[in-house]
Amino acid sequence: MRAVIVHGGSGKLKQHKIERAKNGVKEAAEAAYNALLSGASALDACEIGVKSLEDNPVFNAGTGAVLTLDGRCELDAAIMVGSTYSAGAVGGVENIKNPISLARKIMEETDHVLLVGEGAKKFANLMGFEEYDPITEERRSEWKELRKKLLLGESYKWHKINELIRRFPELLEGTVGCVVLDDKGEIVAGTSTGGVFLKLLGRVGDTPMIGAGTYTTPFAGASATGIGEGIMRVVLAKTVTDFIQMGVPPDMASQAGIRMLTERVGLSAGVIALDREGNVGFSKNTENMPVAFIKDGMDKVEVVI
Ligand code: GLY
Repeated sequence: MRAVIVHGGSGKLKQHKIERAKNGVKEAAEAAYNALLSGASALDACEIGVKSLEDNPVFNAGTGAVLTLDGRCELDAAIMVGSTYSAGAVGGVENIKNPISLARKIMEETDHVLLVGEGAKKFANLMGFEEYDPITEERRSEWKELRKKLLLGESYKWHKINELIRRFPELLEGTVGCVVLDDKGEIVAGTSTGGVFLKLLGRVGDTPMIGAGTYTTPFAGASATGIGEGIMRVVLAKTVTDFIQMGVPPDMASQAGIRMLTERVGLSAGVIALDREGNVGFSKNTENMPVAFIKDGMDKVEVVI
């Protein structure tokens, strides 16, 4: 059985971005699934799926990721292979195009799991990653708008972030993720993000925290989205994969994970998951989370917003 599920982040999408986001998740799921059909491994297919989302400027990852309070673009990503519990992750890296590929290089070429900031960038240079500015004009003008709103009398305090996001939903725009099962039973999950709009420089969220934003076992994989400060505190992706290993189907495991997060920390989040039979699940406590999935036996990708 082969299966793919992707997300384009939880939050509230502006009306004019909804169709673009639906097309974007559909294209990413198709790219990953077509790779599987051509014989690619779950690892290659997952990287292909996440790269498709990173390269699409509508999503908050790679090209078009959101900006820090001081107008920079610090990217986070992680990838994890279920059968071996191998993982690679990158935090706060600037000026590269595809952080998911750097996370994979960290997994495959180093003894480490997570590299951050300058060290991550040096390693990227060693691995031949080219200089790339991921900041788009659209994001730069959104950043100017949001900064202006906040400077006009809105205090910006991290412990108020949920309240702030209720008032300015555009502050939270989604992370991307992809979970893949190949026909050998391998499961791989990958997640990538620019984090949260107007974050402090140096802030790292849940995405590269193995277990929080990204987790895979031989039984299940999960990728989370939303406010990392909540997701990290309930270790959401691992919690959902643990539920699945205990026999809970991925849809119910995702719902239970989001319910637990909502009750315990009350912040915005979403999660996608998949098990080794190819069953998929997803859940969110926000208005939107573009999701697309396909598996053997389906004749086209299903998209949910
Ligand atoms: N979930 C993405 C972040 O908080 O960085």
